[in-house]
Amino acid sequence: NTCAPVIALDGPTASGKGTVALRVAAVLGWHVLDSGAIYRLAALTVMNHDVVLTDLTRISDLAREMRIHFEQGRILLDGVDVTSSIRHENVGNLASELAKEPVLRQGLLERQRAFRTWPGLVADGRDMGTVVFPDAPLKIFLLADVDARAHRRYRQLVEKGESADYEIILADLKARDERDMNRLVAPLKPAEDAYVIDSSALTVEQTVERVLALWRQCPDSALL
Ligand code: CDP
Ligand code: CDP
Repeated sequence: NTCAPVIALDGPTASGKGTVALRVAAVLGWHVLDSGAIYRLAALTVMNHDVVLTDLTRISDLAREMRIHFEQGRILLDGVDVTSSIRHENVGNLASELAKEPVLRQGLLERQRAFRTWPGLVADGRDMGTVVFPDAPLKIFLLADVDARAHRRYRQLVEKGESADYEIILADLKARDERDMNRLVAPLKPAEDAYVIDSSALTVEQTVERVLALWRQCPDSALL
């Protein structure tokens, strides 16, 4: 196999995928793919181009052609730094609507696979292990119960100095779970060969350690 190794890290919103992916990649010296950011970039592109939301062919073309760069924690879209603007709620909502569309998902497939370069990739998302990298040598499904996840999001917002209402966050997480798990294409679910880690009672460090331990046990890790 001449493909670089991939650790696929899927799970529901606020389970800690992004945080754990960055730490694991830092330890291994690998690349990271924040696939949620790709969906958010597609949403922002659509907003910038004033497209009719029913014109899925045009939306898919825009998503295939958008120029994106990830560099040192910053994200550029057509040369503009959009690191914070893609996190806005309206962008997230449109991303989640567009994510239901098969043509858009198809349009983003090759772009995501292009991140798979040596020495390896830690890919975080919803369908990394099931659709984008079905041959990944290690697949993790990261869970945490909804209350633990709501507390994490709450703390994240408070630490950023933003206003946060626990009940609203909880309701929002439940709605996002519902949408991600029940869509027809690439719904959120563990790949058959994924290891499920429940991080409800784990720290970030403990979760990272478990992922690294699974990677060290993986036959592919011995080949590097
Ligand atoms: O990427 P995803 O939406 O899955 O979650 P995140 O934004 O990476 O993580 C949500 C928050 O939970 C972060 O502030 C983490 O520090 C915190 N957290 C965690 O990720 N894992 C734990 N075991 C405990 C807390
Ligand atoms: O909003 P949240 O932080 O939970 O999600 P995100 O990881 O930033 O992703 C934005 C949207 O893209 C979510 O609504 C996901 O449903 C969707 N997405 C997806 O469909 N497939 C992926 N591999 C990653 C994200």
